[in-house]
Amino acid sequence: MNTRGFIFDLDGVIVDTAKYHFLAWKKLANDIGIDFTHEQNEQLKGVSRVKSLEKILSWGNKVISEDKFMELMGKKNDDYLSYIAQMDAHEILPDVPKILTYLTDNKIPVALGSASKNARAILQKVNLITQFNAIVDGNDVTKAKPDPEVFLTAAQKLGIAPENCVVFEDSLAGIQAAKNANMVAIGIGETAILNEADFVFKDFTEIDLQFIAQL
Ligand code: BG6
Ligand code: MG
Repeated sequence: MNTRGFIFDLDGVIVDTAKYHFLAWKKLANDIGIDFTHEQNEQLKGVSRVKSLEKILSWGNKVISEDKFMELMGKKNDDYLSYIAQMDAHEILPDVPKILTYLTDNKIPVALGSASKNARAILQKVNLITQFNAIVDGNDVTKAKPDPEVFLTAAQKLGIAPENCVVFEDSLAGIQAAKNANMVAIGIGETAILNEADFVFKDFTEIDLQFIAQL
């Protein structure tokens, strides 16, 4: 068998940071007179910071100057970072360490492929940064998911051909990015949403090591 490489998204796959994004976006939206619901937060999964703010402003029918836009982006991130500062290893989602340990014990290359510019800081906080052979995040790419850039760059850093890579993703844009990169896409979440994935599991507790071994 060709060597496989495994690429993990971060937010919603390794840690549940959507709740912190929600709190930070809600505060920002409410401060400028825009409602913000959990359903809207769902639509921001996997979406870059810039695109997220653009969507919130359009939901609220608000037009602002470029300076104000930059100011709001900074505010949102400062607020988000205050939640990240409290994170520790308890926030790693169930059975993620089991899969990561299995892969590293078997010398299988592992990368991170995330849209977040805060990915490295979060991996430090939850003490997982040394588990990855390569990290590609929002600072390293110019094109957002569903563009395959983030995953292709990760595969290149691992030295593994894209068609031999497996991606774990919780957002539809991320699943599409993996498929656009010609990789095996494993959805973590609901089948109804992630229907373009090759396989979907509710979470990592549903994935056994036998399944990983036979991929
Ligand atoms: C993605 C999240 O992983 O990263 C999005 O799912 C987030 O919700 C995006 O907007 C960018 O993150 P950050 O940390 O750079 O603002
Ligand atoms: Mg995600």
